[in-house]
Amino acid sequence: MGHCYHCRMVSCVLCVLLVLSIVLCAHGEDDFQWTQTDRGSFYYGTFPPTFMWGVGSSAYQTEGAWDSDGKGKSIWDVFTHKKGKVYMNQTADSSCDGYYKVKDDLALLKELNVSHYRLSISWPRIIPTGVRAEHVNEKGIQYYNDLIDTLLENKIIPMITLYHWDLPQNLQEKSNGWQNISIVTYFNDYANLCFERFGDRVKHWITFNNPWSVAVEGFETGEHAPGFKLSGTGAYKATHNMIKAHARVWHTYSKNWRSKQKGMVGISLTTEWGEPVDLSSQKDIEAAERFVQFHFGWFANPLYNGDYPQIMKEYIGQKSAQQGLGISRLPTFTSQEKSYIKGACDFLGVGHFTTRYITNRNFPSTQGPNYFTDRDLRELVDPKWPEPESKWVYSVPWGFRRLLNFVKTQYGNPLVFVTENGLSEKMHCAQLCDEWRIQYLKGYINEVLKAMKDGVNIQGYTAWSLMDKFEWDEGFSERFGLYYVEFRNKNKPRYPKASVQFYKKVIGASGFPNVREVEKWHRLSTESCSTTNQLLAAEEQRNAAANILRLIHDPLVSHMEMVTEIVVPTVCTLCILISAILLMILLRRQI
Ligand SMILES: *[C@@H]1O[C@H](CO)[C@@H](O)[C@H](O)[C@H]1NC(C)=O
Ligand SMILES: *[C@@H]1O[C@H](CO)[C@@H](O)[C@H](O)[C@H]1NC(C)=O
Ligand SMILES: *[C@@H]1O[C@H](CO)[C@@H](O)[C@H](O)[C@H]1NC(C)=O
Repeated sequence: MGHCYHCRMVSCVLCVLLVLSIVLCAHGEDDFQWTQTDRGSFYYGTFPPTFMWGVGSSAYQTEGAWDSDGKGKSIWDVFTHKKGKVYMNQTADSSCDGYYKVKDDLALLKELNVSHYRLSISWPRIIPTGVRAEHVNEKGIQYYNDLIDTLLENKIIPMITLYHWDLPQNLQEKSNGWQNISIVTYFNDYANLCFERFGDRVKHWITFNNPWSVAVEGFETGEHAPGFKLSGTGAYKATHNMIKAHARVWHTYSKNWRSKQKGMVGISLTTEWGEPVDLSSQKDIEAAERFVQFHFGWFANPLYNGDYPQIMKEYIGQKSAQQGLGISRLPTFTSQEKSYIKGACDFLGVGHFTTRYITNRNFPSTQGPNYFTDRDLRELVDPKWPEPESKWVYSVPWGFRRLLNFVKTQYGNPLVFVTENGLSEKMHCAQLCDEWRIQYLKGYINEVLKAMKDGVNIQGYTAWSLMDKFEWDEGFSERFGLYYVEFRNKNKPRYPKASVQFYKKVIGASGFPNVREVEKWHRLSTESCSTTNQLLAAEEQRNAAANILRLIHDPLVSHMEMVTEIVVPTVCTLCILISAILLMILLRRQI
């Protein structure tokens, strides 16, 4: 058992009791230690030669071609076309036009020299109504066949997500989507089709990407499609059906395909890490654990331990009773279901972006049913953390190692793939010198390396994401890409940010061989971007000017569009020009 750093006369007794209870309740010495916070310094070393390096993207965010070649509508197509749901009423109708740019994007992957590419299949592109028995769209199948073949010809392993949020709209309308248990069968039929058509070549399957977000943002807050606010119930119901759907698909793979295709079926769970504000407060330690259990354990615990986390059952049960409900708002699995679900996962995909400090806070049950208040906690950020480029992604690398160790101890050291890790910037004018992303990747990948030294069974790392893309309710205002995409230009050109050069070096050396090398990469990467950056700014200004001319002839274009499409880049360019002039004046004075 760990270190009782402040174990003085009085607290000693408590410590002993705590140790005893932990030893009795859990797996003894292998238990995760909430109070151990080794944040260490940078660790120089490399990953094993079999370690997989990749980047990720998803269908709705990048493909565009939203109604082409027989594709059906998804809930995101419908959601984004309603006004007032997405930043500036933007849609992903064309987005990066990835559907038409397989060759171009292959070149980007080759430039990085990744070993795998994580992408998703759009369910309504291959089954327009979502119901396999009704119609299979061969043009959609053809697109993914070509994409998979192109990757494999170039020795890039495709890692494919079946559900990255774009449910066929028909299933939403006809049977209430994830709120209805019938979805399990539809999803299973779709997955089975994918195994049948692509499974000869695809060996890494991910059923769901970040189902937490699907549940909470789709059914609790309504910020995401389908946009329901079923506070305190909808998210639990959706999750219940997603877990069953995942398990069903895993069993289908085992029964029909595993022996022939020899692949793996996992899930990708995204979570923030929760660290207790006050490590000497038992209440804070418990609150931090609740935060992680309500976020990650909600999905991982059924799959690895056979049921929802005990703490969720207790808290939601108690609150439901206080709210006068006869039964808990958290659904229950029958014992048959529990054994069907437990172990139905070949690997655990871990997505992670940032960390929060957690403190205990009791919410009165009179506030009404609500996922967030069910947890009885408050999330904080450390004012000492560097100001993030985007309002929510604080760079806290050590939280990642803590999370990965938590995964190891809670779920019996499963096979792990890091499936999403990266950060975004809020930028309206071209900025290719993403120093912050280099710092972030360097720090976070280093913590993955440390976690491997701790014994976490990590097989690969996926940087999120290949290129800038449609960021859901944030539209195009958040940029996660290693490559910059100029969305205003109808050709959607891609430009490498400085982080491409850096990540490429990390991949090439499979880690961080020594100080000298790593510092050299860092310097070269930041130097490489400045010239391209200037060229791009000039290019964007020319496009903006062209847009102004077009606008004069098009009175229908709204004023708001003009502000983002033209004024912002023009002002950006003007700022650059003015600074250049000021700099010249300053230099003259000095002479
Ligand atoms: C988005 O649509 C809503 C509703 O039509 C409108 O009020 C709002 O001004 C639009 N926003 C922009 C940025 O165009
Ligand atoms: C790309 O990766 C492969 C496999 O790791 C390696 O053999 C090759 O040398 C790399 N190519 C470049 C250009 O770094
Ligand atoms: C659930 O789905 C089935 C099959 O699509 C449908 O017949 C039924 O009406 C749905 N129930 C609800 C409550 O939406």
